[in-house]
Amino acid sequence: MKERVLITRKIFPEALALLKEQGIAYEMHEGPPLTKQELRRRIEGAEGLICLLSDRIDREVLEAGRGLRIVANVAVGYDNIDVQAASELGIMVTNTPEVLTEATADLTFGLILAVARRIVEGDRLVRSGGFHGWELDLLLGAEVHHKILGIVGLGRIGQAVARRAHGFGMEILYFDPIRRPEVERELGARFVGLEELLQRSDFVSLHLPLTPQTRHLLGKRELGLMKPTAFLINAARGPIVDEAALVEALKAGKLAGAGLDVFEHEPNVHPELLKLDNVVLTPHIGSAGRETRVKMALMAVENLLAALSGQRPPNLVNPEVWPSLVKRARPG
Ligand code: DGY
Repeated sequence: MKERVLITRKIFPEALALLKEQGIAYEMHEGPPLTKQELRRRIEGAEGLICLLSDRIDREVLEAGRGLRIVANVAVGYDNIDVQAASELGIMVTNTPEVLTEATADLTFGLILAVARRIVEGDRLVRSGGFHGWELDLLLGAEVHHKILGIVGLGRIGQAVARRAHGFGMEILYFDPIRRPEVERELGARFVGLEELLQRSDFVSLHLPLTPQTRHLLGKRELGLMKPTAFLINAARGPIVDEAALVEALKAGKLAGAGLDVFEHEPNVHPELLKLDNVVLTPHIGSAGRETRVKMALMAVENLLAALSGQRPPNLVNPEVWPSLVKRARPG
C-alpha cells in the first residue's frame, strides 16, 4: 500500500479506522509538532493532508506537496492555511463546522462564570490551605444572571452562547456584519454597533473567524470603550484582540477581567497575563469535549476521503477550486 495521506499529529483510532476501511495508506506523525522543513519534506509524496489548527500550512508547504489534492483541517477555523495559495495550486481545503458549536459555547459560558464568580481563584485558595471558614465577603464576584452580554459575531457559536445566556435571563446585544432578524426574534437579541456593544455590555464575548479584517478588532481604543466592571471573553482566535493592549487595560483597571481560551501568539501567553488574578486562562480547549473532538477528526477524514475519491468534500472552504478539478478529471 502506497502512503497517500500525511497526518501531522496523533488523531483518534476511530478516524484512523475509517481510513483503513477505505484502504488508504497514511503516515501519522507522533511527537513534537513538525517543523516547516519537516512538513515540506514529509508532504512531498502525499495526496492528502490531515492537519491541526496549530500547523501552519503556507504557500511553501503547499508547493512542496506536488501531488497534494486536499488539506483537511481538523478545526472550523482555517486561518492557519493559506487558502488563496491552495486555490491557485488547485488544492481543496476543508474544515469541520457545526460539530463543535455546542462544546465551544459550553466552554465560553464556563469562562464567563469562572472569571466573574472567581471560581479559579477559589480553587487556588482552597488548594493552598487558605480557606479558613465561610465569610460574608469571601471572594465576592460579579453576578452573571440578568446582566448584559455583548456577542461579537452571531454565527453558529455566537448563537449557541446566546441560547445559554437566555437561560440566565441576560439581555443580549450583538454585532455582526450580517444582521439576523430571525435570531433576534428567537433569542431577543438586539443588533447594535460595535461601539455601543462595547460601551454597554457587562460581558463581551468574541465569536468571529480570524481574517485580515478582524485582526486586532479590539485594540486600545475599543477596550477603552468597555465599562471598568466588564469582562472580555475570547474563545475564538487570539489575534482578534491586541493582547498587549488588553494587558495594559487590565492592569490599569479599565476592565474587570478576562476569560481567554486563545492567545495572540499561541502557544505563548503574554507573561503579564499569567500574573493577573482577574484573568482565567485555558489552553484552546473550546471544542475539547471528547465526543466533539472525535467527531471533528471523523469529519476531517470524511472530507479527505471524498476528495481522494473524486467527489466534492462536504465542507469545502474554497469552492472556487472545484470546477477546475472536475474539468481536469474529465478524460481528454
Ligand atoms: C476551531 O475548530 O477552529 C477551534 O478553535 C478548535 O476547535
